[in-house]
Amino acid sequence: MTKVITYGTYDLLHYGHIRLLERAKALGDYLIVGVTADDFDRQRGKINVQQTLEERVASVKSTGIADKIIIEEYEGQKIDDIKRYGVDIFTVGSDWEGYFDYLNEYCKVVYLPRTQGVSSSEIRAEEGSLKLGMLGYSSFLNKVYKESQYVNAVDITALCSSDFTKLEDVRENIPLATNKFEEMLEGVDAVYIHSHPSLHAEEIRTALQAGKNVLCESPVVLKKTQYDALMDLAAEKSLVLMEAIRTAYMLAYSRLILMIKGGKIGKVVSVDATCTSLRTYGNFGEKSRKWGSLEGWGPTALLPVFQILGTQYTEMDFFSLVDEEYPETDAFTKVNIRYPEATATIKVGTGVKSEGELIISGTKGYIYVPAPWWKTDYFEVRFEHAEENKRQFYKLEGDGIRYELVEFAHAIHSGNAEFYISRNVTRAIVDVMERFNASQEPRRGEDKLAL
Ligand code: CTP
Repeated sequence: MTKVITYGTYDLLHYGHIRLLERAKALGDYLIVGVTADDFDRQRGKINVQQTLEERVASVKSTGIADKIIIEEYEGQKIDDIKRYGVDIFTVGSDWEGYFDYLNEYCKVVYLPRTQGVSSSEIRAEEGSLKLGMLGYSSFLNKVYKESQYVNAVDITALCSSDFTKLEDVRENIPLATNKFEEMLEGVDAVYIHSHPSLHAEEIRTALQAGKNVLCESPVVLKKTQYDALMDLAAEKSLVLMEAIRTAYMLAYSRLILMIKGGKIGKVVSVDATCTSLRTYGNFGEKSRKWGSLEGWGPTALLPVFQILGTQYTEMDFFSLVDEEYPETDAFTKVNIRYPEATATIKVGTGVKSEGELIISGTKGYIYVPAPWWKTDYFEVRFEHAEENKRQFYKLEGDGIRYELVEFAHAIHSGNAEFYISRNVTRAIVDVMERFNASQEPRRGEDKLAL
C-alpha cells in the first residue's frame, strides 16, 4: 500500500484544495491530510485565517477524499509524521516548490501544479477588508498603522486628530486625515479610538450612532452607567464595541490563562501584577491631556486579576500618589483587591518605577512572568520541586497590535466580541476607574472603600 501525506490550512475550502486532495490521493492508496492548528498558523505568521481548526477539519472531512486527518501543531512535525505513519510520498502544491526537498531523506517528495486563479487569501480579500479609521493624537497610532499592514482583513483608510504633530508618518500614507470626527466616520466601517479616556464615551456614542463598529483603547469609559448604555446601543445597532488591551490577544498570555483554568497550579490564591513606565507613557503633547497611571496601566494590570479570580471581589482599596508635574494625575497607584478566598494587588506607575512582573500563586505551584509581562512571549510554571518547573515560549510579533486587529475583524464577522475579554471583565475595569476617581478627594494617601 502506498501512503501519501499532504498539509495545508484549508481555510474557506475551495476548488483548488479539492483538486489538490484528489491528485494527492491518486498518487497512492491511502491519503493522510495534515490540517494546521490555529496556534501553529499564528506562530508562523498566518494570522488572518477565518475558520477555526474544527471548521477546517470538518470541511476536509466532508470532501470524503482523506483516509485520515491529523493536526499539524509544531515545527518539524512533518518528519515525525512521515516516520510514524510509514509515509511513502509527501506532496503539496507547486507554490512550495523546493521548500520541502529536505524531506527527500525520509520519503519521495512530489510538488503538484497549483490550480490557477483561486486561493483562500483571494476569497478573504473578496469578502472585503474592514475600512478602519483611527482617532487620537499619540505617536502610538503610527505603530498601529504599521502593524495593520500585516493584517489583510483590515485597511486603515482615515485618521482623525486634533493634533497631528506626532502623526506625520501615518498622515502621509492614508487617504484621509481630518480633525472632524463626523467626516472620518462617513468613509469607514469601524473606528479605533485612542484618545484620552475622558473623551471616549462621547466618541463611542457618535461612532455607534453613525453605524460604525468600535475598537476602543482601555479603559473604554470611566463610568458603569456609560458603559451599560453604550453596550445597549451597540446591541441595538448590531455593532461591535470591543476593548483594546493588547495583552489579552497575545498567545503566551492567553495560554497562561487556559493553563490556570485547567488547574495546573491548583487553586489560585493571589494574583500580583505590576506595570510601570516613567513619564513616557501617555505624555501625548501640549494640547492633549496626560493619562494618569491607573488610566494608562490599570486595565492591563487588572486583566489577569479579573480573568483569573473573577469580578466578584469583596473589598478594594487604593494607595495613590499625585504626580508633581501633572497634579491632575496619579504618579503611582497600588490597588489591593480582596476576594472571599483570594487576594490580588496591582501596582501601576508613570512616576515610580518597579519590576514589571506578574506572579500568580496557587496551591500546587505558581506562574512567574518576567518584565515586561504585558508583552511577553515567555513564562515559567514553577513548583516546590524545581525539576518539575516548565518554561513556556510562544512567538510574539509586533507587540500584539496585529492580533488585536485580526480579532476585531473576526468579532465583527462573527458578532462575538467576547472571545478574549468578556463583557464582565471590561465592566469591572470601568468600575475600578469609577471607584478610583471617586476616592481621589483628597488625592493623597489611603482611602478604603468598603463595598
Ligand atoms: N492549493 C492548490 N491550488 C490552489 C490553492 C491551494 O493546489 N489554488 C494547494 C496548496 O499548494 C497546498 C494546499 O492546497 O498544497 C493547501 O493550501 P492552503 O495554503 O491551505 O491554501 P491557499 O488557498 O493557498 O491559502 P492562502 O491563500 O491562505 O495561502
